[in-house]
Amino acid sequence: MSFEFFAPCPRGLETALAAELAETAQRRLPPGALEVGADVPGGVHFRGNWAGGMAANLHSRIASRVLLKIAQRPYRSEQDIYALAAEQRWEQWFTPNETLRVDITAIKSPLRSLEFATLRVKDAICDRMRSKTGARPSIDTAYPDVRVFAFLTASDCTLYLDTSGEPLFKRGWRLDKGAAPLRENLAAGILRLTGWTPGTPLYDPMCGSGTFLAEAAQVALDIAPGLSRSFGFERLKQVDTAAWRYLKSEANTARNTAQSRTSGLHIYGSDISDVMLEKARANFARAGFGNVPLKQLDARNMTPPEDAPGILVANPPYGERIEVRGRNARGEARPTSRDRDDAEEGFRRAQTDADAPDAEFFQALGDALKQRFTGWRAFVLTSDRKLPGQLRLRESAKTPLYNGALECRLFRFDLIAGSVRQRPVQDNANPGGNA
Ligand SMILES: C[S@@+](CC[C@H](N)C(=O)[O-])C[C@H]1O[C@@H](n2cnc3c(N)ncnc32)[C@H](O)[C@@H]1O
Repeated sequence: MSFEFFAPCPRGLETALAAELAETAQRRLPPGALEVGADVPGGVHFRGNWAGGMAANLHSRIASRVLLKIAQRPYRSEQDIYALAAEQRWEQWFTPNETLRVDITAIKSPLRSLEFATLRVKDAICDRMRSKTGARPSIDTAYPDVRVFAFLTASDCTLYLDTSGEPLFKRGWRLDKGAAPLRENLAAGILRLTGWTPGTPLYDPMCGSGTFLAEAAQVALDIAPGLSRSFGFERLKQVDTAAWRYLKSEANTARNTAQSRTSGLHIYGSDISDVMLEKARANFARAGFGNVPLKQLDARNMTPPEDAPGILVANPPYGERIEVRGRNARGEARPTSRDRDDAEEGFRRAQTDADAPDAEFFQALGDALKQRFTGWRAFVLTSDRKLPGQLRLRESAKTPLYNGALECRLFRFDLIAGSVRQRPVQDNANPGGNA
């Protein structure tokens, strides 16, 4: 049986997700199990059978969820949406013993209240279940067994059954996140955009809880991102348990094979905060790759971790979220008790230093890149479009990406020997021109 699926992802990563899904289709799945369709703003459509949908859940590092399309029809009112939801055979998918949550996303919907529309979908499903089974499911917005998503455009309502459960960026092993972690699927998508491949040195000099490093280690060790978590589809009536057992055993075999042939990861991290590094170490140990070298270091003092050039990737502190630390310190980093309480200290400093620019820190960071990282490619994710000017480097490329609701750019700097693309100093005064 073939279904239509939609995999949402962070905006800006749609093409990367489509490529990743196409690779998943090559992972010893039967022909036609997963056929990638169009990528549209916010996600990728694909067709496939249960094995394809489950494989996407298990292997996608970039998707936020995998949604199974149940129905689509034009609508004009909440009553139309109720009728569409009431016609669907929900009793084929789950029982009234499962708890339910309904969410609606809308773009240009003419409806006045999305809250009311959400209630109508929920009522329709519960009424249908009661009429078919004699009982209705309870609602649980925190930990539902089953999630239904409705997507409204100006003209159409599409109903989806969520096959993922918890969003896919929750890999199932990360306990401690730190102050401003990246979502795992955004980090994984960025890694793909950098063109990094296992074996090439990878360095994050502001690694925090280590999201880039963890995602890279999982790629290098062929660890399927969903191997240590459960999924919504496991609670659905129609799940193909034999196919699921096969997919998991194939993923376990791939991990074991990769682990036995991988000698060194060539993945490195540092951060000024020993507290963040402790979190990263604890997470890596839980995930099964405790051997990523981590060092406490001010990024201004960073040096390449290997002789061979590689890829540097980082998301420096965002002004909106946490402060750059040690920016007034010269030489060695001086981590203090501040490291113990990011949020409170960040807030206090934001009030006292509100107008102090981070220019000194970023200029020193740019100098470190120019002087010590010849031959490397550096990728920096930031919401600050003035960053290239502050680093005094000219970017080779910039890709718009969203970190949650925060619009960011992934700047790429090619630190080519003898021809580092420096930015004239006066550019700092007028760093515009970044779309
Ligand atoms: C936005 S967070 C990075 C989050 C990280 N990507 C993660 O997933 O957890 C920025 C990091 O920069 C670190 N940092 C701030 N100032 C620094 C400095 N001068 N040198 C090195 N790291 C610094 C902070 O401790 C924080 O962990």
